[in-house]
Amino acid sequence: MCPCLSVFLRGLFLVGIVGAGPAGLMLGHLLHRAGIDSVILESRSREYVVERVRAGVLEQGTVDLMHEAGVGDRLGREGMRHEGIYIRFGGARHRIDMAGLTGGRAITIYGQNEVVKDLMTLRFASGRPLHFEVTDLSVHDLDTRAPRVRFQHEGVQHEAACDFIAGCDGSHGVCRGAVPPSHLQTYEREYPFAWLGILASAPPTSQELVYSLSERGFALFSMRSPTITRLYLQCAPDEDVNGWSDDRIWGELIARLGSDDGWAPKPGAILQKGVTPMRSVVVEPMRYGRLFLAGDAAHIVPPTGAKGLNLAMADVRRLATAIEESYAGGGEARLDEYSDRGLRRTWRAQRFSWWMTSMLHRQEGETPFDYRRQLAELDYLVSSQAAMTSLAENYVGTPFD
Ligand code: FAD
Ligand code: DHB
Repeated sequence: MCPCLSVFLRGLFLVGIVGAGPAGLMLGHLLHRAGIDSVILESRSREYVVERVRAGVLEQGTVDLMHEAGVGDRLGREGMRHEGIYIRFGGARHRIDMAGLTGGRAITIYGQNEVVKDLMTLRFASGRPLHFEVTDLSVHDLDTRAPRVRFQHEGVQHEAACDFIAGCDGSHGVCRGAVPPSHLQTYEREYPFAWLGILASAPPTSQELVYSLSERGFALFSMRSPTITRLYLQCAPDEDVNGWSDDRIWGELIARLGSDDGWAPKPGAILQKGVTPMRSVVVEPMRYGRLFLAGDAAHIVPPTGAKGLNLAMADVRRLATAIEESYAGGGEARLDEYSDRGLRRTWRAQRFSWWMTSMLHRQEGETPFDYRRQLAELDYLVSSQAAMTSLAENYVGTPFD
């Protein structure tokens, strides 16, 4: 390892972005379009970041942002616009007409890894720095006007002197931990279950997503393309994925999702499987001095409401606008509002994700009363225009501000 320290040669403006997930890459892209330089630093390899299978549901606001930011061409061609979802319980599927209930708003199915691929292509074309496999990253002098990022890359120690640092390094990153504990309040909730998710080579048998509560627990039918389905099953938080043969997974999915009208998912070769724990985390505020936390670095939601990636996109849009305004001499009012506005959106998404999760999962130790109450809630949901509108408004998401 070379002990030399190389201080970045920098232009007039520089934003240090930690993490090349959707939040970091979109922020770098929005800043680039505004003529602002940034360095994006990622601890994993490029392949790992691109291949990681995660979100699939883009809210209308995320889709609009992708188009506005000039990164929507492939999304426009390959994304699958869905105007409704199904809620299944008691053996029957019930459609919620999201577009009809929200004045034409919808969701689009487009994998997070496709979003990341598209943003990376533009980043490479911009010629601005994006470094993978950085190690020993640390952030310093956050409460001054000249914060710094230190890291190692290809055996060389670097230091970047920045105007702002964006902590887009997800739930296990270093930025959140760099804030003195006395300046950060953390709100957390663990859920006593997890999701076993699979990606399968099987054409979707439903045009739209199916969220199901069955006596055997929650299941979700989703997709990625006309030939690939994505499905999830409620399981234990410490579930050993090796205990799940392909036959067992399909048997359980069909038992939990199959409905009285004969509909069921179609089995196919399982391409990937993994267990995702479920938790809620919010840190307040989302800013310390010149460090701004965005995306999963600031908040985690359980995946049932499909909100995590969308919250991350809303954060970085606000942050990019605030940084741009400050560089343009417009003052720091938007930077000062960044956290409060983000927390308002975050808590609304937390509430929605918690509600969807509690309504659709079975809990160990619950009583027959609890399950009957869940069924009654679902029955009310699918028979009340007001209740369906509330779900639809939250699911398609409110416009980004
Ligand atoms: P991340 O994607 O976690 O990116 C952070 C990056 O920072 C990573 O690449 C990481 O390697 C890097 N990093 C970490 N530490 C360091 C360090 N020290 N130095 C440098 N780099 C570092 N959301 C939705 O909106 N819709 C959905 O349908 C949906 N479904 C989901 C399904 C599953 C199974 C899961 C797990 C999540 C789902 N989500 C969904 C949530 C969504 O995937 C996340 O909210 C999203 O990835 C957040 O993006 P991010 O950029 O903030 O963080
Ligand atoms: C998907 C993930 C979610 O968390 C969700 O609520 C709906 C769909 C998906 O991966 O397709």
